[in-house]
Amino acid sequence: MIKASAPGKVILFGEHAVVFGMPAIAAPLEGLRTTATISPLPEGAHNDILIEAPAIGYFQWLHEAAPNDPLPMIVQEFLTSVGIQKFDPLHLVIKSSIPSSAGLGSGAAASAAVIEALVRFFDKPTSASEISRIIYEAEKIHHGTPSGIDNTVVAHDRVVYFIRDQEPEFLNLHSPLWIVLGDTGERTSTSTAVSQVRRSWQEDPDHFEDIFQSIGAISRQARIAIIEGDHEILGKLMNKNQSKLEELGVSSDRLEKLNDAARQANAFGAKLSGGGMGGFIIALTDEGNVDAVCHSLSDAGATATFVSTIES
Ligand code: PMV
Repeated sequence: MIKASAPGKVILFGEHAVVFGMPAIAAPLEGLRTTATISPLPEGAHNDILIEAPAIGYFQWLHEAAPNDPLPMIVQEFLTSVGIQKFDPLHLVIKSSIPSSAGLGSGAAASAAVIEALVRFFDKPTSASEISRIIYEAEKIHHGTPSGIDNTVVAHDRVVYFIRDQEPEFLNLHSPLWIVLGDTGERTSTSTAVSQVRRSWQEDPDHFEDIFQSIGAISRQARIAIIEGDHEILGKLMNKNQSKLEELGVSSDRLEKLNDAARQANAFGAKLSGGGMGGFIIALTDEGNVDAVCHSLSDAGATATFVSTIES
């Protein structure tokens, strides 16, 4: 049996504005991962793979899958890209501790874990940028017009400073970041949030471009603060970024309540992460203050909390 895993991710700065060409910073989450295992199937058709994600009741033979089904699409794209056509029947099982549709990159992590498992099983070393390209194909099914930040951070498993259509810059952190995540329990698809921002921008381009520019400036300052390890400044920048996301219209009452709760518990700063309109907040804090932030989030109604470090 071959096993591989890939991390979930958070967007530390710049979501939404990144779709419009501004810089953003994303980081893999050490604590939340998806695993994929591949083992031979005693019975089944040759050159076929049974793909299973038991937690969501997903069970699909590769050759019977619809063309827009992301996981089989990823598997086929990889097999084609490395020129594999003949193999004994296989069983691919995906398990994840990453909540789905919550802005934590569960789809990209599943794709990355599957490709990494295939790479190892067929012994076909593949570059992280090729893996990122294949994941992007599946992200297009999920999101329509993704910026490419999710596939990049998950495929490389590094903190990334990302500008659309440019080579990513991987950041070396001065010191680990302690992040507490709080779940609003609300779910909105990223494509809904991205479409709403696009509509607002079309109605009032000057105003929305100003907001995107401000967010871009925040990401640029955050890049320096991450490299220098200035967590106080990073927290302030997260709060500023959150205000701009509120102006974009992708926040929610619950997100703001959880952000306030994290700040009241002395987090350096807090913001929504990802598409927004629900999903998770992320709060930056000291290692010694993690429990206090978790408790404060739970008291404010968080349906779940997680702690993860971000390291380079
Ligand atoms: O997949 P999510 O919900 O983490 O959102 C990704 C970030 C967006 O900027 C909202 C979309 C994108 O494609 O960059």
